[in-house]
Amino acid sequence: MKQEKWSSQFGFVMAAAGSAVGLGNIWKFPYIAGQNGGAVFIIIYVVLLAALGVPLLISEMAIGRSTRSNPIGACRKISKKCGFIGLFGILGAFFILSYYCVMGGLIIRYFLQYLMGGLDTGAEEFYTSVTQSTSEPIIYSVIFTLICAVIVVRGISGGIEKISRIFMPALIILMIILMIRGLTLSGGTEGAKFFLVPQKIDLKELPSITVSAMGQVFFSLSLGMGTLITYGAYLDKSASIPKAAVYIPLIDLAVALLAGLTVLPAVFSYGIEPSAGSGMIFIALPRVFGEISGGVLFGAAFFLLVFFAAVTSAISLIEVIVSYISQRFSLGRGASSAAACTLAAAASIPVSLSFGRLSDIKIFGMNIYDLVNFISDAILMPLGALGICLLCGYLWGKGKAVQEAGIKSRTGRFLYTASVKYTAPIMITVIFLTALFNM
Ligand code: PHE
Repeated sequence: MKQEKWSSQFGFVMAAAGSAVGLGNIWKFPYIAGQNGGAVFIIIYVVLLAALGVPLLISEMAIGRSTRSNPIGACRKISKKCGFIGLFGILGAFFILSYYCVMGGLIIRYFLQYLMGGLDTGAEEFYTSVTQSTSEPIIYSVIFTLICAVIVVRGISGGIEKISRIFMPALIILMIILMIRGLTLSGGTEGAKFFLVPQKIDLKELPSITVSAMGQVFFSLSLGMGTLITYGAYLDKSASIPKAAVYIPLIDLAVALLAGLTVLPAVFSYGIEPSAGSGMIFIALPRVFGEISGGVLFGAAFFLLVFFAAVTSAISLIEVIVSYISQRFSLGRGASSAAACTLAAAASIPVSLSFGRLSDIKIFGMNIYDLVNFISDAILMPLGALGICLLCGYLWGKGKAVQEAGIKSRTGRFLYTASVKYTAPIMITVIFLTALFNM
């Protein structure tokens, strides 16, 4: 395949922010914050975003740009025996995709339902009937994958970049409109307060809040999965990596905060527990849409924006696999996109069935959906991220990462190096072990 490129730094930042902004921001962030003390969680999250997120973003982009390879090839070029680090990323991307496509399909299903006039049953019944059906989740996840395929096959600047330039701003505008609606519901400001004013927490909870925040930083910034290595490989030498590494987390954080300020006020004003968990956007919010005037319209707008967020993340995951297949087997973009999307759609089938027909299958006490989640988020993601630290902190020649990234200030270089050599690896190991022991 001839070397493709982003058409501008702005386009790259939109695509990378598009990868970062996803279900993690809109679906996970509000409820994880809700379960972990609201504003206390946010403060810890912001600190970790800067201390861990930024250095890892810089590392992945630098590795990608310097090697211009897929994750396995890139890691191998940095250090001969380290191709397996990229393999963690590619496998991780594959596992995330398997459930991301199912969620994407569910979002399309909800969006269409609102277009057709809203839910005709209670929110809970609707959720159960859709997720437990045998055919529906499969059909909709295949539709979601096909939409992603149409984008990816058009290439970097003509497909991924173009769609991100439209979807990202559209998502932010829709979100602001919905946030205003949420805050003006009676009792809505209580939700905002819960989210923004630090509450008293038991100090004993601090370690577990910190571990949840770290996991969320990695997931939300799409770290450790090879996405930024892959996107970085199409980055021009003149683009500024440090600047991108500041804009991407800022956009990601802004959308997570907007999501919290949209979801939590709505949920609060209807007296639903803020820690309602993953059902928050599929059950609690639809209940709110069912009660407010214009709820059908707001419901459609909400699921449309979640769809935008999910697509821009899924295409980054697919591109990881496309770049690998195309380089490894010397295939063109068309064939490698078809192969990657077929793999993703096939993997999403067992996940689709894990709420209904295959719900009895339990491995280590987890159903298939929880299992793929666990493998990608709790195992492959931290291992991938740890590998990146190892490469940039120890194995890539002295100062190479800093040089490729173009970090000019001495303080910046010091902070970056300290993070990839010490802070980040230690913290990632802690998340990893905590997740394993809590299994
Ligand atoms: N960052 C995405 C989200 O917040 C998920 C993702 C993880 C995407 C890893 C790509 C790679 O939903």
